[in-house]
Amino acid sequence: MGKKILIVTGSPRHHGNTNTLADGVAQGATDRGGKVKIVDAARLQSKTNGCTSCMGCQESEDFRCIIRDEVSEILATIPDYDVLVLATPVYFFNFSAQIKIFIDRMYSLYKFKEDKIITPTEKLHFAMIATAAGDYGSGLDSLEHTFNKIAGLSGRKPLTLLVPLCSVDVNETMADTELKEQAIRFGAQLAE
Ligand SMILES: Cc1cc2nc3c(=O)[nH]c(=O)nc-3n(C[C@H](O)[C@H](O)[C@H](O)COP(=O)(O)O)c2cc1C
Repeated sequence: MGKKILIVTGSPRHHGNTNTLADGVAQGATDRGGKVKIVDAARLQSKTNGCTSCMGCQESEDFRCIIRDEVSEILATIPDYDVLVLATPVYFFNFSAQIKIFIDRMYSLYKFKEDKIITPTEKLHFAMIATAAGDYGSGLDSLEHTFNKIAGLSGRKPLTLLVPLCSVDVNETMADTELKEQAIRFGAQLAE
């Protein structure tokens, strides 16, 4: 059976570089038999301005964020997936705020005990798509460092598609056939 892949995008630019590449990754994965869902975190309805640190998720028996809105609905489905792809533009050397809000609420998928972490996502394979205007040292490096910490919560080696030196003009990104093929190959790799 094909891998189930959830791609969460976090760019406010609906047809920008990140979403364009995410579409290519989805195409590559689908072509290999993967079942892909794309969720735009920048447009999810959220009752609060991010995690409120209520600790409800740590005190409950289940792994649900107790704020009930579109974000928590998607969060609750993450354990059903084989692969979680975080797709973000680099904003000030890290994730965009739009996707960070989503990531912070992933806290609900982990119970941080004194000596161990309990999660229904231990088999989840993490991947990341990131685009940046600058070179690797202009923020993709610090973003990758943060992402590796998150991915370290599962036991599997993460995969990344890091794209430096992206033009702000998405037409240039779309015209880059090598980049599009890279995205398709990355998607195929995720589905394997
Ligand atoms: C608020 C903001 C902050 C940014 N910060 C960085 C940065 O720290 N490093 C970098 O290389 N590019 C930075 N960029 C450029 C974006 O990462 C780049 O244009 C990206 O491809 C945009 O993706 P999108 O088209 O999906 O929105 C920034 C852009 C914006 C709007």
